[in-house]
Amino acid sequence: MLAQKRILLIIGGGIAAYKSLDLIRRLQDRGAHVVPVLTRAGEQFVTPLSVSALAAHKVYRDLFDLTDEAEMGHIQLSRSADLVVVAPATADMMGRMAAGLANDLATTLLMATDKPVLIAPAMNVRMWEHPATRRNRERLAQDGIGFVGPETGSMACGEYGAGRMAEVAQIVEAVETALSTGPLAGRRILVTSGPTHEPIDPVRYIANRSSGAQGSALARALAALGAEVVFVTGPADVPPPEGVQAVRVETAREMEQAVQQALPVDAAIFAAAVADWRVVSASEQKLKKTGTGLPVLELAENPDILAGVAQMGERRPRLVVGFAAETDDMVRYATAKRERKGCDWIVGNDVSPATGIMGGSENAVVVVTTEGAEHWPRMSKDEVGRRLALRISDALRG
Ligand code: C5P
Repeated sequence: MLAQKRILLIIGGGIAAYKSLDLIRRLQDRGAHVVPVLTRAGEQFVTPLSVSALAAHKVYRDLFDLTDEAEMGHIQLSRSADLVVVAPATADMMGRMAAGLANDLATTLLMATDKPVLIAPAMNVRMWEHPATRRNRERLAQDGIGFVGPETGSMACGEYGAGRMAEVAQIVEAVETALSTGPLAGRRILVTSGPTHEPIDPVRYIANRSSGAQGSALARALAALGAEVVFVTGPADVPPPEGVQAVRVETAREMEQAVQQALPVDAAIFAAAVADWRVVSASEQKLKKTGTGLPVLELAENPDILAGVAQMGERRPRLVVGFAAETDDMVRYATAKRERKGCDWIVGNDVSPATGIMGGSENAVVVVTTEGAEHWPRMSKDEVGRRLALRISDALRG
């Protein structure tokens, strides 16, 4: 819930601005007080009257509106909020934010605020993929700006691709996460998730059946408890949850690098199904059927990312948790794995095809700690995520 929360909503100039009218309502449904700001370009898409009527609040439009300055200066306006949301955030708005410009009311508020900022980008796919926007995205992420979306889909301009503004429900979820004051507030937690892809040649790779669903559910649950979550994910079937810092990687070695960059953290949870082996020298060209025999793939062992972090000295997170996907004798293997890797807990799950767990929506786990093995009943992966997040929160408190 967002009771008593004050959200400064900056509506930028894009066709997705119509969704921001609904966003105002949905935030209010959750108990939030929405103070709207409409940019000049935003006014071309939605009217000040509809925005102020829905928000039941005056809509701020102009930096040089003296009445506003007399009532409330722009500095005060930017600070009286608990969170600043920009939806839609256009390519132009992101560019000005990244460059540190303050040439209208919206960008001045964004420069002046001392509160967290969440943006919902919306633009044509070419603009989203443009090198300038990529640079701006990186810069804004480094500045601590939170992102929700964009989504991939068909666009008002008739093209298809990434750039559609996130749905209203997603933005509300990201707002709730950003304002969460749960038991994990102030904690930084790393979660790895999904499979890794190890290239054989430019079109083929070694992979596994991990969907990333359990890692995603756990990351979402940790963020909902207020943690700052760094989510390092391989090419998974499910998208990263809202409200986490998603780092996308392909290979085990890229995952290892991203994990090292995320440190230090309070807890590190390794839910990724990392490929054990990679092809020593992946071919630059597609391997061909030559008729002169079969290709021979030489394999090398991938770095064990979990063991590396669990056994690091000074920078070791307080809590290190591994997963063990087994098809038989789970408790014995999971217990041995805990010892071998040097982690605190192992969450074991039976991934025999008959269980339908790999790729399915349910999980039946065994949590192995110093105290022994605890069998949890079969439940949804979301519920496993929520329960594990609570256990992690208890462990970090103790
Ligand atoms: O050794 P095994 O793959 O069974 O161990 C599983 C656990 O170790 C999981 O937590 C997985 O994320 C982690 N792991 C890793 N790096 C690897 C292999 C596994 O972090 N190269």
